[in-house]
Amino acid sequence: MDGAQFLLGPEGWALVNALPEYRPDDAARLSAELRKAGHSPELVSAALTQQRLRAKARAKFGEHARRMLFTEAGLQQATRLAVAAHHARRFRDAGCERLVDLTSGIGADAMAAAALGLDVTAIDADELTAACLAINLAPFPNARAEHGDSLARDLTGFDGAFADPARRTARGRTFNPADYAPPLDRVLAIREQIPALGVKVAPGIGYEHLPADAHAQWVSVDGDVVEAGLWFGPLAQSPGRSALVISGTGTTAITATSDPTAPVVPLEPAPLGAYLYEPDGAVIRSGAIAAVGEKLLAAPVSNGIAYLTGDDLVQTPLATAFEVLDAMPVKQLAGYLRERQVGALEILKRGMDVRPDEFRKKLKLRGPVSATVILTRLRGRHSAVVVRRLPAEISPHPSTDRSVLAELDRPCYSEIR
Ligand SMILES: C[S@@+](CC[C@H](N)C(=O)[O-])C[C@H]1O[C@@H](n2cnc3c(N)ncnc32)[C@H](O)[C@@H]1O
Repeated sequence: MDGAQFLLGPEGWALVNALPEYRPDDAARLSAELRKAGHSPELVSAALTQQRLRAKARAKFGEHARRMLFTEAGLQQATRLAVAAHHARRFRDAGCERLVDLTSGIGADAMAAAALGLDVTAIDADELTAACLAINLAPFPNARAEHGDSLARDLTGFDGAFADPARRTARGRTFNPADYAPPLDRVLAIREQIPALGVKVAPGIGYEHLPADAHAQWVSVDGDVVEAGLWFGPLAQSPGRSALVISGTGTTAITATSDPTAPVVPLEPAPLGAYLYEPDGAVIRSGAIAAVGEKLLAAPVSNGIAYLTGDDLVQTPLATAFEVLDAMPVKQLAGYLRERQVGALEILKRGMDVRPDEFRKKLKLRGPVSATVILTRLRGRHSAVVVRRLPAEISPHPSTDRSVLAELDRPCYSEIR
């Protein structure tokens, strides 16, 4: 229990907002001090939990986290703001004006849409989550929170709908869209009433679950694949699959196919060239390897292996580039590294059943030199490729719609009670 309910009253809200920056080693002292000052143990515990959650929430919400209210589950499930901004922009660019967020959680997506000026009605079935949502949306006069079952609500008047169904059940994480809350097919049916429908789903969703009219876009942030978004009607330029790669320096999208359910077309492998590329996870999940290979003038190192190789250096945020220094059968690697006094080794692998930590131990490395090795199959043969990681290219595109984040900088969180 994270106790967020204790913070909804004036005393709790004032207390949590007056707390200093979270420091784990300071919790016991602070707790004793606050109790001595007359606050109840429940309130103190809830405030300190919130102080910790706000610190953790910085990774998703930046400085906005300081003024928000979280539950542990709500924070875990929340979309990070940089991605929520992309969701919001889709609705804005499609001309939507009145958005309903059917599964708002603590409100990341709703906040981003409100910040872009959409009129937002945000609904959550969980009472405490909806209370946090109300606090987090309070700075936006164009947004309101509701507690209830969005599937039972009259949706007349909305021209856009967004859903991010819960994928955690009492038994843990679920990968079956029928077990989402609400179930995916119930959410998808809403596009008959509101064609501009966007749905956030787990990145592991199988292509067989994608409706023929969906544009499915896998999104990665700084190398982690965080979601697949299903976009319908005016929110999608055309059906298909694509990848959106967001990093500190930019965003880049690539289309995989115009048929969302099409299987991935295997590419013919090529001999190891001067460069090796590791495609971003969103590229791999969306099946855009062939499209990226074309861009990089590169082909897989072996059948079914998602490393590409080529002789020309083409830098793109869609793949990490490595210069190939040497390649050898795996059993020659230990001697090779010993000769060169390699003591620190970065190991990447794909298509080989090894545990990097155990493998590294067996190499008994000693020396002042650092190296990177990729363990993989080269046209079927288990191999070690010694590489040099090349610096990422700086993309000219801004990573996030800054206007969304700037709009979130409203002063009124402390004034709402
Ligand atoms: C993954 S979270 C949403 C996170 C949100 N997009 C954000 O960024 O903060 C899913 C939420 O859906 C809510 N939910 C599940 N079924 C619902 C329903 N039928 N109506 C309204 N909310 C529902 C859950 O309570 C949960 O808070």
